[in-house]
Amino acid sequence: MQQLSCDVLIIGGGAAGLSLALHLAEKHHITLISKGNLTEGSTYYAQGGIAAVMDPEDSFESHIADTMNAGAGLCDPVVARHTVVHAPEAIKWLIGNGVNFTRESGRAEDGGSYHLTREGGHGHRRILHADDATGQAVESTLQQRVQEHPNITVLEQHNAIDLVTSRKVGLPGHRCLGAYILNRQTNHAVVCRARFTVLATGGASKVYLYTSNPDTATGDGIAMAWRAGCRIANMEFNQFHPTCLYHPQAKSFLITEAMRGEGAKLLLPDGETFMQHFDERAELAPRDIVARAIDHEMKRLGCDSLFLDISHRPAAFITQHFPNIYKQCLAFGYDITQQPIPVVPAAHYTCGGVMTNLDGETDIPGLYAIGETAFTGLHGANRMASNSLLECLVFAKSTAEHIERQENIAAPPKLPDWDESRVTDSDEEVVVTHNWHELRRFMWDYVGIVRTNKRLQRAERRVQLLQREIDEYYGNFRITSDLLELRNLVQVAELIITSAIQRKESRGLHYTLDYPTLDKTKPACNTLLTPTNFIRQS
Ligand code: FAD
Ligand code: SIN
Repeated sequence: MQQLSCDVLIIGGGAAGLSLALHLAEKHHITLISKGNLTEGSTYYAQGGIAAVMDPEDSFESHIADTMNAGAGLCDPVVARHTVVHAPEAIKWLIGNGVNFTRESGRAEDGGSYHLTREGGHGHRRILHADDATGQAVESTLQQRVQEHPNITVLEQHNAIDLVTSRKVGLPGHRCLGAYILNRQTNHAVVCRARFTVLATGGASKVYLYTSNPDTATGDGIAMAWRAGCRIANMEFNQFHPTCLYHPQAKSFLITEAMRGEGAKLLLPDGETFMQHFDERAELAPRDIVARAIDHEMKRLGCDSLFLDISHRPAAFITQHFPNIYKQCLAFGYDITQQPIPVVPAAHYTCGGVMTNLDGETDIPGLYAIGETAFTGLHGANRMASNSLLECLVFAKSTAEHIERQENIAAPPKLPDWDESRVTDSDEEVVVTHNWHELRRFMWDYVGIVRTNKRLQRAERRVQLLQREIDEYYGNFRITSDLLELRNLVQVAELIITSAIQRKESRGLHYTLDYPTLDKTKPACNTLLTPTNFIRQS
């Protein structure tokens, strides 16, 4: 059977994967795979922007302090400094590649300083953006550069199934050697051998019924790394974005936090503001606080949504700063220059993930993780707005530099092919669809913005049952993309629930009625989950 081989296999084509490919491509042969089209990932949908200190009146110290403050005592100060200090260079690199950020004078490329917007938790204006569609500008520019590069092979519609480690295939040593990949067009699985393998698969917010994320966010990288023997950290901290458009046809449409940065107010159904009762920073409090306040008010009043209002600003300002949101909302019948927007919170960002160091290294030599799938220690218990794209860019660079230093790593030998000899076609696809829905529903109901011991235990029982069912199904039937994603989602759900049960306090994004305050009796700590096949490095 055909085997693919390359120097670096990058799984994922968002900001993290594309940047890494471009940093490495001069000296390495890269294969970059994405399970859908390249644009189908969270990066393309990013709105608000990328945080970086660009204003002489701002400072690295201030960006670091805001990041640490939003992270509720769990950000790693070394990682926060590394990320913040490298931010201006990352922005320059994007501009050098052709990303056209909005300037004070609009998006003309005729010079002038960049317009900096503001979002929750930031004490300064420091968010660079391309109107209200920053992700689209970043993704399409980097995608074009990647597709032009002769050393980068892009395979769209290819799902990574599982990582191949030396131990798994009975070879000596402890190393990642590549991955098994499903070609969705032919429905056949192949093995790809690589000197280095990088997970850049994005987050896992699809584990919740309501999410701002595209369909790709099924936590595949986290689940694959866990099965291969990597430690996973802080999965209880799933971020809920406070303001997604509430409309039956508006599947996961976000209303950027930058709108609050430019003066939008959150309103109750009677038109009263309420955020000032929850935090002195009101609409610009960090996201965990705003999402919880909205959830609290919606439950108290028994209403389906609250409202976000920017209509007090001039119409020209609104359409210039938020052209995309203006158009989308108008298509759903809301003229945001004239009326408030109905909004609800939705699952948005996975703060936990595959544990890495500053070079993107995981617990398995030869395996790296970058972007939303990784846990670097930057975000702590709550990610600050616009620090995510930044983390993708900064860690793609340091990972590339680390890979470049590993000149002596040989190509892996021929690996066993994917074995389909014992499976048949499923006659019960309905099991997969049904379980997808059940999982996302109970995660929303029991492991959402407000948790309790009882709800978490209920979720734990259900996820264990689903896990047994899916394992059996996976062992007997030919794989499909939906089955792979469900298997990963169930695994990620289990990691979230286990982590949430372990945390006996409320901190950042993890809020439980049973322990409603910080546990001040011991130092703040991360939740580390260790798989049974973990090998400690000497
Ligand atoms: P993604 O961009 O999600 O890319 C993941 C890639 O992995 C995709 O190509 C996908 O196909 C591929 N993939 C996944 N699993 C597999 C598999 N098994 N096999 C093969 N390929 C696979 N952050 C900010 O900093 N600023 C913002 O303004 C901002 N706005 C946001 C708005 C929205 C609506 C959303 C959803 C997120 C926003 N975020 C923002 C968060 C940020 O966009 C993401 O955290 C970031 O883009 C993640 O980038 P990534 O490269 O890690 O993953
Ligand atoms: C937004 O634009 O509100 C999203 C920003 C982010 O997730 O960082």
